[in-house]
Amino acid sequence: MTLLTVDPQKCKRDGICVETCPMGIIQLKSKEALPTLIPGGDALCIQCGHCVAVCPHGAMDHSAIPLDQCPPIQKELLLSDAQAEQFLRMRRSIRRYKKKSVPRELLARLIEVARHAPTGHNSQPVEWLVVYDTQEVRCLAGLVIDWMRHLVAERSPLATMLHMDLVIKSWEAGTERIFRDAPHVIVAHAPQAHRAAQSSCTIAMSYLELMTTALGLGGCWAGYFTGASQIWQPLIDALALPAGNMVFGAMMVGYPKYRYYRMPLRKTPKIVWR
Ligand SMILES: Cc1cc2nc3c(=O)[nH]c(=O)nc-3n(C[C@H](O)[C@H](O)[C@H](O)COP(=O)(O)O)c2cc1C
Repeated sequence: MTLLTVDPQKCKRDGICVETCPMGIIQLKSKEALPTLIPGGDALCIQCGHCVAVCPHGAMDHSAIPLDQCPPIQKELLLSDAQAEQFLRMRRSIRRYKKKSVPRELLARLIEVARHAPTGHNSQPVEWLVVYDTQEVRCLAGLVIDWMRHLVAERSPLATMLHMDLVIKSWEAGTERIFRDAPHVIVAHAPQAHRAAQSSCTIAMSYLELMTTALGLGGCWAGYFTGASQIWQPLIDALALPAGNMVFGAMMVGYPKYRYYRMPLRKTPKIVWR
């Protein structure tokens, strides 16, 4: 099957697909000709689907990105600039959760949105682990605490910098500060050797966190857990990720106990204009 199929009736030969293809593999040989792949274009295509999505006439189809599976952008759903700004600025790290499970479908929807985040060369290396079981979340938190105890005993500078002694004390007093008693944790992992692993997981997780807000859920990055998951063998064993994969981001998720009424202040950005 050929990679690109162009509808000759719909194609206006405007060259938009040629201009927008990031790999430069589409050509118009003449003003009348239909767009075609350059020789060897199949091997260079990164399956980003720009050619399908950017054609105003719906003339372009792609074997890996079928036109009929690319949802149209609905104008009535576009955000105003004010809506977008408020939505992005109102997101907060949620650290108090209701004792209530989130339906699996909602967690799946978070990942469904997050998987559309950009990745280097459209490589899409992110894989997901959903720790749905709240007891298991608690067990994983316990393993992170073990890691912290080990670092504190070793007088690790990381333990001092991240105040791990206080986190351990809280745990011993019954307050869980690893996942903040969130009912679920979503973990983004990827092949450690993949050059886009870290950036892809981070960006996807950022999408996921934003989507929690849209669904009335709350999330917070689980940084202690991520740190431990990369080096603490008992936790690595418990996670049992595919061989060669590493955790690059984790999000606690649940229903927020409180709502926020104001947006935060941040440092004034340091900007150089040239
Ligand atoms: C990579 C990363 C790791 C984080 N790890 C934790 C964590 O382990 N525990 C926690 O309570 N908050 C964690 N946070 C949340 C930050 O503390 C929070 O984003 C910051 O204080 C700003 O607050 P806001 O997210 O509510 O705007 C993390 C944030 C990021 C981006």
